[in-house]
Amino acid sequence: MSIQASIFSSFDISEIRNEFPILNQKINDYDLIYFDNAATTQKPKAVIKAMADYYEHDNANVHRGVHALSVRATEKYEEARAKVRRFINAKSPKECIFVRGTTEAINLVANSYVLPNLLPEDELLITYMEHHSNIVPWQMICNKTGANLQVAPISLSGELLLDEFARKLNKKTKFVAISYASNALGTINPVKQMIAMAHAVGAKVLLDGAQATAHLPIDVQDLDCDFYAFSGHKMYGPTGIGVLWGKEELLEDMSPYQGGGEMITYVTFEVTEYASLPQKFEAGTPNIAGAIGLGAAIDYLVSLDLETIAHYEAQLLSYATASIEAIKGFNIIGTAKYKVPVISFVHGKIHPHDIGTILDSEGIAIRSGHHCAMPLMDFFGVAATSRISLSFYNTRAEIDRCMTALKRVKEVFA
Ligand SMILES: Cc1ncc(COP(=O)(O)O)c(C=O)c1O
Repeated sequence: MSIQASIFSSFDISEIRNEFPILNQKINDYDLIYFDNAATTQKPKAVIKAMADYYEHDNANVHRGVHALSVRATEKYEEARAKVRRFINAKSPKECIFVRGTTEAINLVANSYVLPNLLPEDELLITYMEHHSNIVPWQMICNKTGANLQVAPISLSGELLLDEFARKLNKKTKFVAISYASNALGTINPVKQMIAMAHAVGAKVLLDGAQATAHLPIDVQDLDCDFYAFSGHKMYGPTGIGVLWGKEELLEDMSPYQGGGEMITYVTFEVTEYASLPQKFEAGTPNIAGAIGLGAAIDYLVSLDLETIAHYEAQLLSYATASIEAIKGFNIIGTAKYKVPVISFVHGKIHPHDIGTILDSEGIAIRSGHHCAMPLMDFFGVAATSRISLSFYNTRAEIDRCMTALKRVKEVFA
């Protein structure tokens, strides 16, 4: 048996797909094919059940009550934080702040860490392949301070030009914010190397882990980044919950991003004493059910084994890439050597929205648009692309059906 065949057969797909009830439905009389996983992933029964159990048995506000339900809710919420700590190998649960998602995590760092330390002559460095969430917050604080936003260029294959990145780094560079993996191209950046390069000029680094966390094992200590941001909903957890991880000494020095209940130890009309980490950054009632759901998603991913998932998804990616390449007229944008399972493609004569609409009429969900990466689209000279993004619950048979549909799209527009 070939290696490819053995990896495909070692994964019990029907058992896995049974865990995702949403996949078992018809759209326009066709079996649903869900290829929009980079936008959000579907949720396994374990996540749905953990959240329903919480609401059915334990619902109460956290950290405030002495009654049994409040104690149970607090325990479950903090258990979820402990799971996050283990999953990303943080030193302490205090370093793991629950937020709404990657976007909020980046805004928190921009406003609480970077803004107070930024001078007009300073520079921030991002890359050409960032999501708007990792562009706009930095632009906003540059506008406030007069600091300069620098952008590291990429190649036509969608890979960062490391030499150019090095050239952009200098003593004025105070902060570097980079995606671990690109949502629009799939490119996995050589982040460990980039972090070391940034540290060598004294800059701190935030990694946008929105697209990486569901596909790659994450070890924040080994990466040695200063901040790491990710969203629960892109890794089989619920929407409205995500994590900002930061090195404890940096988080300790930062002022809170928002004020309110939960983040204080003492309040008078004149002065407030802030709570210690992580509560200092969790003002107001948090998304308790969301955190518990994220904890369940982590348990589920760990039970499947991250390495097995990565192998299976890599096989799916190369199969889907070869299949699209074999259809004349479609061009893949983003052909980096190392990729998460994301394929952006265009056809010279057919608009991505038309491709998406025809595929939807056959029950196939893909994404068409700028993928919240307009500067990247400009770089490739397109307004939009079609994007297939895969998960371990997808199959080669689904890819085959999608390719047949793409051939039909060509016929419709011939
Ligand atoms: C690379 C990247 N960064 C940031 C985000 C923003 O994530 P969220 O909308 O969950 O805050 C996304 C979402 O698509 C993304 O793909």
